[in-house]
Amino acid sequence: MAIRKVGVLGCGLMGSGIAEVAAKAGFDTVVREVTIDLMEKGLGRLRGSLDRAVEKGKLAAEDRDAALARLRGTTDFTDLAGCDLVIEAIVENLDEKKRVYAAVDAVLGEGAILASNTSSLTVTQLAMASRRPDRFVGLHFFNPVPVMKLVEVVRTLMTDTSVLDEVGAFCRALGKEPVQCRDNSGFIVNRLLVPYILDAIRAHEEGVGSIEDIDRAMQLGCGYPMGPFTLLDFVGLDTTYFIAEIMFEEYREKRFAPPPLLKQMVQAGRFGKKSGRGFYDYGKR
Ligand code: CAA
Ligand code: NAD
Repeated sequence: MAIRKVGVLGCGLMGSGIAEVAAKAGFDTVVREVTIDLMEKGLGRLRGSLDRAVEKGKLAAEDRDAALARLRGTTDFTDLAGCDLVIEAIVENLDEKKRVYAAVDAVLGEGAILASNTSSLTVTQLAMASRRPDRFVGLHFFNPVPVMKLVEVVRTLMTDTSVLDEVGAFCRALGKEPVQCRDNSGFIVNRLLVPYILDAIRAHEEGVGSIEDIDRAMQLGCGYPMGPFTLLDFVGLDTTYFIAEIMFEEYREKRFAPPPLLKQMVQAGRFGKKSGRGFYDYGKR
């Protein structure tokens, strides 16, 4: 397999999880954040996740230490030089993503693969913003990355077939199951999941049930592991809002439009579990 060194852009909820599973699977991994403080916060989350796996007896302490030894945090794009695959997992914003592709393209070798973990932007427009549209692919991981088995692999009209083979083998080396998707906004999972979680907010706005009762109903009535409001807090209300805006812009269908309550929660800084408060209160972070 050609992929040995992996770069990850962003060490938030998703980037820290992707860096964790890559380092654990034996890849030399470099993760880039904007500031040292954000990097430390992300690496703290990652270390906590590995420590919990050791405490639960799912990971040997020496394997945790070996994974951490393969992992490096940086704020400097030049540290991504020599990466065979770079997975971008920064904020869901087209302009921000375009900016990092320009910076990272400048340090990567010609054969390197660039991938995006975007939830809702089309991969075609991202690929065209890079210098390597034939070696650009969507790799959509799911939250929490160490647990969720799926990766949606998104090809565009330009993607080289050999790249699909390489990233497919990479996903399997992480213990994940790759599923091929066409390049439509939201791919498979978010095309179905996003209208559902947005509709839960609308149902609550319309007085159908309380946040707690809607969650309990979907957990106990449908066997879902989390109710929609717990899931919204878990994904991040800011990220969900960006996703909804992008999908609504793409499809012009009401089911993708962000409900007013979601917008107001984001304006109020209630981003969910990661900020300490969303639909539920998690105590000060
Ligand atoms: N990191 C690592 N491991 C974790 C974890 C984390 N953040 N959270 C939970 N786990 C592990 C636990 O260690 C536990 O492992 P064992 O069974 O081996 O001991 C297992 O997951 C189950 O955890 P818990 O018993 O603590 O809790 P749970 O049974 O409630 O499961 C959950 C937690 C796996 C998160 C489960 O609630 C779940 O599957 N929720 C739905 C998640 C989901 O839908 N994700 C997709 C979001 S959408 C998305 O990602 C796409 C997008 O673009 C927005
Ligand atoms: P997050 O807010 O937790 O983390 C984003 C991180 O990116 C932040 O730490 C931020 O500092 C960093 N960042 C911003 N600009 C950067 C730059 N130029 N270089 C490096 N880092 C930068 O968000 P997240 O939930 O991890 O989402 C990241 C991406 O993954 C988004 O595209 C999102 O749509 C996608 N995604 C999210 C989920 C989820 O459940 N949250 C699931 C699948 C995919």
